[in-house]
Amino acid sequence: MKVAVVGATGMVGNVMLKVLAERNFEVTELIPVASERSIGKQIPYKGKNYTIVGMQDAIDAKPDVALFSAGGDTSLKWAPKFAEVGTTVIDNSSAWRMDTTKKLVVPEINGDVLTKEDKIIANPNCSTIQLVMALAPLHERYTMKRVIVSTYQSVSGTGVKAVQQLANEEAGIEGEMAYPHPIGRNALPHCDVFLENGYTKEEMKLVKESKKILRDDSFSVTATAVRIPTAGGHSESVNVEFENDFNINEIRKILSETPGVVVQDNLDTNTYPMPITAHDKDDVFVGRIRRDESQENSLNLWIVSDNLRKGAATNTVQIAEYLVENNLVKLNEYIS
Ligand code: A2P
Repeated sequence: MKVAVVGATGMVGNVMLKVLAERNFEVTELIPVASERSIGKQIPYKGKNYTIVGMQDAIDAKPDVALFSAGGDTSLKWAPKFAEVGTTVIDNSSAWRMDTTKKLVVPEINGDVLTKEDKIIANPNCSTIQLVMALAPLHERYTMKRVIVSTYQSVSGTGVKAVQQLANEEAGIEGEMAYPHPIGRNALPHCDVFLENGYTKEEMKLVKESKKILRDDSFSVTATAVRIPTAGGHSESVNVEFENDFNINEIRKILSETPGVVVQDNLDTNTYPMPITAHDKDDVFVGRIRRDESQENSLNLWIVSDNLRKGAATNTVQIAEYLVENNLVKLNEYIS
């Protein structure tokens, strides 16, 4: 596999390289891509240094797969150009997610929607991925009616500038601000931009993307997304109302048997998911599993996952693995 990583110097790009190496994805040629200012710089991968190239050079190399994490505008402009030369693009930005001609994929849930014809595939938003990973098997069993989610999101989801803002605040240094307010010792009910309906774009991603991934818009979702000064992962407090009644032990059993989901729920030992323990792991952790006593057929959950891993890089690499395993990616050597 000739693999381009577009945005290789960024936060997610870096983790993509790490995940490709860890999972031993078969890379015969690695093409790291970044902006003009990084061209010519070296980037390490599996103990070897690779030279960063620009977009056009990467397209000319006709990679089999391009893993994109370089922002929405970059993706809108360049992903189609890769697709034109036969490359399958897996894109981490929000550019293509709600495009009805593009697939939005969490492989464990809807990998089966992918075909050889899909040349630009969208990776969902980080907070949506961890939500649907836990909810998909429960929806299948009990049918969700309504989901209320409140997020507690890590600064790493915003990017390098936000991580730096928090580090500066902690060190008492005045520096560039990624947010309109301090983030240290604070909570900002403001993730991504505000929309006309008063919600943020992040909140609406949770609403719309979860229905697209689960291929069902018969349930409703409402969200409040909050940025907090953590770095290891996103957390979510989730309340779900089902059409059907459930057995709490069966819920635990279903979740603990779901690949990619780990139940951490032991009140005697203070065991529950936390960003600090989810950090650098690929799984989605679920705990505080309990019946909502205020309403019929309702459940409360606490869901945590590393937003740069399963929320971004790992899911992207898993989509690439799915394409390879199912023979859905054309090797460019054969079409040129
Ligand atoms: P660079 O490091 O050269 O700016 P993050 O989201 O963590 O800020 O990372 C964004 C990534 O996208 C970086 O690797 C950045 O490269 C890359 N990038 C931004 N704009 C472009 C562009 N126009 N072409 C290619 N890569 C880009």
